[in-house]
Amino acid sequence: MSKTIGMWMYQNGGGTKIEKKMINLLRERDIFVINNLDLRFAESSNEGIILNNVNMFSLDLFFSYNAGEQTTAQLYQYQTLGRTIPMINNYDSFALAEDKMRSALALNQENVRTSDFYMCHRERPEGLYEKLKEWGKMVYKPVDGWGGAGLALIENPEGLDALMPSINQGDNRHIYVERFIENDYSDFRVDIVDGHFISCYGRKANDREWRTNITSGGSVILRDANDEIIDVAKRATAATGLEIAGVDILYDKEREEYVVLEVNGIPAFATPEQEEFGLNFNDLKIEKIVDLIDRTVNK
Ligand SMILES: Nc1ncnc2c1ncn2[C@@H]1O[C@H](COP(=O)(O)OP(=O)(O)O)[C@@H](O)[C@H]1O
Ligand SMILES: [Mg+2]
Repeated sequence: MSKTIGMWMYQNGGGTKIEKKMINLLRERDIFVINNLDLRFAESSNEGIILNNVNMFSLDLFFSYNAGEQTTAQLYQYQTLGRTIPMINNYDSFALAEDKMRSALALNQENVRTSDFYMCHRERPEGLYEKLKEWGKMVYKPVDGWGGAGLALIENPEGLDALMPSINQGDNRHIYVERFIENDYSDFRVDIVDGHFISCYGRKANDREWRTNITSGGSVILRDANDEIIDVAKRATAATGLEIAGVDILYDKEREEYVVLEVNGIPAFATPEQEEFGLNFNDLKIEKIVDLIDRTVNK
């Protein structure tokens, strides 16, 4: 019997082309796709969640893959929908991965190495000074940030003093910090789909930066995986429960081990420029996602 799924895919950076390929491959398997389902504009009533004249509850699955345009309303609808139909990624794991503190805890519980971390209420900041003494350097992070935005490197108590006023004026009541990992300012990004290793590449910070994010001026580098990295990435993904994940890993020079920085729930496909540069994992990633959707809707 044919199936119908919904899709919300990012369109920039080559996303449109990826979406088209996915839709065609799914059609060959008798799975039809209704795309452009932007949950921001969904209307809820006694009839269900209606979007573009589609009752979302009647879909066999919803594939949500648009990181750039995620709003609170969208997450709310995502969560609501996830109670009724299968979603990729599943909502609970996606929400977990969006929160750095919750995912660090989840990874630790599964014995996956993360940076040492600490969180406290901003009215009880004493512990932060203790941790700074213990670690030497630390990184302040909004738990729900991305692209390196809002991060601060703290190297001494004066640095922490200086940061407190802006924290106290902000919306976050809690303060999340991590031990600074001594590294060579390059990272590994490992993509996992449905338990399969898809790709490994890296990003290198620019000369004036400690952050490797592209949005912080970093650039993509070609980088081979090894068994240890693949194992770490698979275990990190399993700990979050994500079907599709991009695991960010640093090599800790001091402790000589791989450390998971974060697990991303909407890891981008290679852009056309990156493909030209040598990142050639898109087709494999599409194939594994199509397999996963097929298996899920025909369960
Ligand atoms: N604990 C840390 N030690 C050293 N560098 C870090 C640490 N945390 C983050 N960084 C650097 O900052 C970048 C952004 O941090 P990350 O936690 O991935 O947040 P974002 O979600 O903004 O990408 C990382 O890619 C890494 O280069
Ligand atoms: Mg990151």
